[in-house]
Amino acid sequence: MSTQTAAARVTLRTLGKLKQQGEKFACLTAYDYCSAWAANEAGIDVILVGDSLGMVIQGHDSSLPVTIEDTAYHVRCVRRGNRRAMIMADLPFMSYYSESASLENAAVLMREGAQIVKLEGGAWLAETTRLLAERGIPVCAHMGLTPQSVNHLGGYLVQGRDPKQSQAIIDEARILQEAGASILLIECVPVKLGQALTEAMDIPVIGIGAGPKTDGQILVWHDLLGLYPGKAAKFVKNYLKGNRDGIQGAIEKYVRDVKSGRFPAKQHCYF
Ligand code: KIV
Repeated sequence: MSTQTAAARVTLRTLGKLKQQGEKFACLTAYDYCSAWAANEAGIDVILVGDSLGMVIQGHDSSLPVTIEDTAYHVRCVRRGNRRAMIMADLPFMSYYSESASLENAAVLMREGAQIVKLEGGAWLAETTRLLAERGIPVCAHMGLTPQSVNHLGGYLVQGRDPKQSQAIIDEARILQEAGASILLIECVPVKLGQALTEAMDIPVIGIGAGPKTDGQILVWHDLLGLYPGKAAKFVKNYLKGNRDGIQGAIEKYVRDVKSGRFPAKQHCYF
């Protein structure tokens, strides 16, 4: 690979610099070659091969049935369509229950082309985060609404509304940063908590349903295009609706809106 190609790729350093400069970055899930290609064309900075694939690709009612083999397959497809974006991959439900399982499964995803793995949970993941980071596997800590724990949480509900829980999320995010996490992803929390976390963290913070103040924003591909059946979550915006430039135009508009701070607007936020 030429050094020129390597320099063009989005890395952790790129995202760190954007945070320092106060510039927003746009992230999107993708699960296959063409969607990865389109995301790159539109200027998406981070592609997440999310375990949301269990719902939007496989038709399950949660992400729990997704396996490491499923995720590895989709990372492989995305990698072929990717040129510039950082590829993040979800470690699926129960694939990081032990130290050895975490290391082995993260290695599978990294070998397929992921540049960072995402794990759902708080301070209990500090040791796993340290193990992975020390062995050269960057970690994104996913906090707030963690869909793999939907049964424990009692549904896909807004998190951190009460001050005690909000403070606990900030404290545990600090612990994970200290343990070596390189990115924090925060899902479905009030705007105030999204902002407090972004200010408290040295690492970049990506939000989904966490208000406009996070360093980056992420949406699920099918939500951005209005393809998922049923009522969309409050934080979702269908960018294909009324867009005369089709799918490509919709993703480009999303990127522009994130970078200019127009998305998320008030109607996409929790208070
Ligand atoms: O799996 C996924 O797509 C995710 C996003 C909702 C952030 O984790």
